[in-house]
Amino acid sequence: MWKGKTIVLGVTGGIACFKAAALCSKLAQTGAEVRVIMTESATKFVAPLTFQTLSRHDVIVDTFDEKDASVVSHIDLADRADLVVVAPATANMIAKMAHGLADDMLSTTLLATTAPILVAPAMNVHMYAHPAVQANMQTLRERGVQFVEPGEGQLACGYVGKGRLAEPEELMVAIGRQLQPRPQPLSGRHVLVTAGGTIERIDPVRYITNDSSGKMGFAIAEAAREMGARVTLVKAKTTATPPGGVDIVEVSSAQEMLDAVQSRFADVDVVIKAAAVADYRPAEIADRKIKKKDNTLTLTLVKNPDIVQWLGEHKKHQFIVQFAAETNDAEQYALDKVRRKKSDLLVLNDVTVPGAGFGTDTNVVRLYDAAGLVRELPLMDKREVARELLELVAGRINDRKRDTPEDSGRDR
Ligand code: PMT
Repeated sequence: MWKGKTIVLGVTGGIACFKAAALCSKLAQTGAEVRVIMTESATKFVAPLTFQTLSRHDVIVDTFDEKDASVVSHIDLADRADLVVVAPATANMIAKMAHGLADDMLSTTLLATTAPILVAPAMNVHMYAHPAVQANMQTLRERGVQFVEPGEGQLACGYVGKGRLAEPEELMVAIGRQLQPRPQPLSGRHVLVTAGGTIERIDPVRYITNDSSGKMGFAIAEAAREMGARVTLVKAKTTATPPGGVDIVEVSSAQEMLDAVQSRFADVDVVIKAAAVADYRPAEIADRKIKKKDNTLTLTLVKNPDIVQWLGEHKKHQFIVQFAAETNDAEQYALDKVRRKKSDLLVLNDVTVPGAGFGTDTNVVRLYDAAGLVRELPLMDKREVARELLELVAGRINDRKRDTPEDSGRDR
């Protein structure tokens, strides 16, 4: 697992740098190639020579200190890394990563790498709890950066609380987990995910929409990519950051979403309809801003095409997953929808349950097929919900016999 891997260890300026030295030593003992990048402030706590001796490689601090004329070192390290670990990560480095700053060797490498990134924060308890730090960490989580939570206890600044760098042993376990080859049960499959809320125009400045942030759909797209699928993300209006490594198709209205899904349908294996699609749209879109006149204004709405219904009616080999956001009689509506629309699975979120549904980072879902309840999941991060859902989907499609009429003739 370790041999032949290049781990870039980024060390930023905090008293916990001494633990990074112990981590560097443990990493080097595994046989992995450990390349250390330090920030200027980190060198005030521990000398680069310590890391050079432990890693048996030059330590880079200055972006412009190019030792090998044949490569540009920050790009070279960024490309060669199998994993970048930032330990300890200061509030400042986390902020730079969240905002895409690249003003030193480490932040530049972090911006240039496509390798997984593992961050182990260490700072004062109040700094760690500060909304700015928490918001920056959330931004990074949404981009797929993994964190090793700091421990609680006596901090070097005198406070007692959360903020100590995780112990080197715990960091080694987290690093080992990152390097382990992940199962790819969706390898060779094309997964299309819809996310966000559709926009139904009233006039050039107004529209009807809903509260979908896109977080659920994005989590599914990202998990599908990690499980080996080629992913197309049909994205309506969202507020979250979409994942990288997927093909994004921007749409606005339900009709545009239908067109985008229909034109790709023959080529996909799985469709997951996490988007919140408007059931109705204004019968007419005014080409000029509607002026305020009477005390009431009546808009006539007409029914939108039902995308899931169309998919259910036209599916051949495709596996269809629909969502349902309900506020009452949830199970009854869920069972009616999965049967009537002929989808293979339905993910029910009762949006009246705290932590479930629109805008949250978590969800509480129940999964149904036409026969009834398949699985009930507790409150979970949307990423975990996405993995559970896709593992079930992968199991079901991989169990299908290749010689069934639906699957025959498919060239994978
Ligand atoms: O984006 P987030 O903030 O993370 O929130 C996630 C979510 C709550 C939006 C998501 O988990 C969810 O429940 N999405 C479906 C919301 C919805 O539109 O539910 P529905 O019960 O109205 O529709 C049922 C299914 O039919 C959905 O898969 C929907 O995409 C689909 N539909 C609906 C109307 C329509 N005209 N065509 C459709 O295909």
